[in-house]
Amino acid sequence: MTENLTDSDKKQLVVGIDMGTSKTAIITDTGFKGMIRSVVGYPKDIIGVKLLGKTQVFGEEALKNHSALRLYYPLEDGVIKDSGDKDYNAAYELLKYMVDKAKQGQDIDVCGVIGVPSRASHVSKELISSLANEFMKTSMVVSQAFMVAYELNKLNNCIIIDIGAGTIDICGIRGTVPQPDDQVSIPKGGDYIDDRLETAIVQQYPAVQVTPRYVRGIKEAHSFVGNIKEPIMVTLRSEGKPSTYDLTEIIKSICESIIPDIIEQMISVIMGFDPDDQEEALKNIYLTGGGSRIRGIDKEIQRLLTDYGEVRVTRVDDPEYIGCAGALRMARDMPPEYWDKVSILGK
Ligand SMILES: Nc1ncnc2c1ncn2[C@@H]1O[C@H](COP(=O)(O)OP(=O)(O)OP(=O)(O)O)[C@@H](O)[C@H]1O
Ligand SMILES: [Mg+2]
Repeated sequence: MTENLTDSDKKQLVVGIDMGTSKTAIITDTGFKGMIRSVVGYPKDIIGVKLLGKTQVFGEEALKNHSALRLYYPLEDGVIKDSGDKDYNAAYELLKYMVDKAKQGQDIDVCGVIGVPSRASHVSKELISSLANEFMKTSMVVSQAFMVAYELNKLNNCIIIDIGAGTIDICGIRGTVPQPDDQVSIPKGGDYIDDRLETAIVQQYPAVQVTPRYVRGIKEAHSFVGNIKEPIMVTLRSEGKPSTYDLTEIIKSICESIIPDIIEQMISVIMGFDPDDQEEALKNIYLTGGGSRIRGIDKEIQRLLTDYGEVRVTRVDDPEYIGCAGALRMARDMPPEYWDKVSILGK
């Protein structure tokens, strides 16, 4: 006997996607996990096409071949630039590329939740939602901070501090999907630290040559705030020759330079909570994003907030994937019938 598979019987791949300024990550309910830098390159001319053998290149491969390509960072500043068609296309192609990878060659419908920067405008969210509809059967666009809270199962009286590449986003979660008033964005994420670090190294050691990529590597290996026992000694090239340099003070002061803004904005987010809830919110502060890996930053934020009573700052596990994991959890928990009504959660 042959069974006719109806549309609703057809298997679906459920995905959680986190579309960030610097990286886009995807997780599926079948265990696939993937991450790519959020950049798409198009060959500048026919030589580039010949060299690369294709008309579009994604992620690290695009960065590696940058001289032959015109690069687009579709979510630069956390939003799709509404004006440029190219940014829209790049966002479309990047997202589709990741979804295709996650399908692993299967001909299967895909549904899922897409997290976008909390500060993305409603227009940007609508744009992402409409482009996703072209290759996903059902999709819903949600703010990243909410996905993190969802994964932590902290949907009330909690504060998410997301130290990303472009910005630091601080969001109060108060039992509903966060509204623009619940969140603030500070333009001092990892890219800002990288720029300042590069400038400081060159100022202190003028003969040294560094590239932005190398500086980022130094930061990711050694970032810290507060005190550490061993000095940070790094090999740099000066006039072509390698030597070792002490970067302890430079790294410390630049990493610490983002903290006053975090504290100032934290206070305004705390004040957005009902006074009865502030005590609980202060015990539920979670740090995420790649910058949450800066050694000592959780303790330092906690220390600077001690005047406010008992404060607990917790670093999440797996900060690069937690948003994605929350998106997948939400996609699995929520019946797709409901999604049409809430295809963009949080205006
Ligand atoms: N150990 C580390 N110390 C300091 N910074 C780090 C470390 N590891 C990663 N980062 C930085 O974290 C940033 C990437 O974080 P994340 O992946 O959360 O960004 P994103 O979500 O793409 O950006 P955004 O949230 O601004 O859209 C980069 O600047 C990276 O250099
Ligand atoms: Mg992010």
